[in-house]
Amino acid sequence: MRLSVHYDVAIGSRDEAKACSSSECTVTLLRGRGLSCSCRGGGNQEVLDVSDVVILAIPFKHVRQTIEQLSGFEGKIVISPVNPMARSGHFYYDPPAEGSAAEFIKGLLPEEARLVTAFNNIAGNRWRAIDEELDYSVAVCSDDEDAKKTVMDIVNSVSRLRAYDAGPLAVSSIIESITPLLLNIARFNKMKDVGVLFR
Ligand SMILES: NC(=O)c1ccc[n+]([C@@H]2O[C@H](COP(=O)([O-])OP(=O)(O)OC[C@H]3O[C@@H](n4cnc5c(N)ncnc54)[C@H](OP(=O)(O)O)[C@@H]3O)[C@@H](O)[C@H]2O)c1
Repeated sequence: MRLSVHYDVAIGSRDEAKACSSSECTVTLLRGRGLSCSCRGGGNQEVLDVSDVVILAIPFKHVRQTIEQLSGFEGKIVISPVNPMARSGHFYYDPPAEGSAAEFIKGLLPEEARLVTAFNNIAGNRWRAIDEELDYSVAVCSDDEDAKKTVMDIVNSVSRLRAYDAGPLAVSSIIESITPLLLNIARFNKMKDVGVLFR
């Protein structure tokens, strides 16, 4: 919803009908607010084929299976918002042996894919509250400087989000691990959708 006002968005799913339905909801909701948008749905492979930038909005445990069923990531910018977490009383960061979800994903993608970590610390509920501003900082890291710049421009196009260059992809574990911290702060202080603002 937030991105389709600025970019041609394609929503991918294992179930094409579900993606088309999500896309129709997006268009109806935005047009109802007098906003023009560009959004369509499709199967994951079809959407990957037509995309320059791909957001892997998938739970960590399903990342491997999803990526291995797809082909054609070469040359594409791939954004990982993926946070490997677990819970036992409190939330904790639970990274794979590679050190972070992003570094794990890097090992699954072809060398020519341009991986960027971003959007890890914004609650989904805030994205969905379309009539409210998103007033957060977004840490972005990558080993590909041009891809990082493109993703930072995308971040800065959305509401009041502000992108910050956090350095190379190796910083991903730090960015990803902020999310369980935010969830614990929300839980133990009876807050909702706690986020990050750098100043
Ligand atoms: N939710 C948040 O507030 C939030 C905030 C920051 C970052 N993140 C990160 O963003 C990612 C997505 O989070 P989410 O809450 O949106 O997850 P989710 O709603 O549980 O799942 C997102 C999508 O993943 C696909 N999926 C689910 N099970 C699958 C399976 N068995 N195999 C393949 N694909 C499967 C589904 O797509 P289809 O059924 O359409 O194929 C589903 O709609 C996670 O890595 C999370 O850490 C989430």
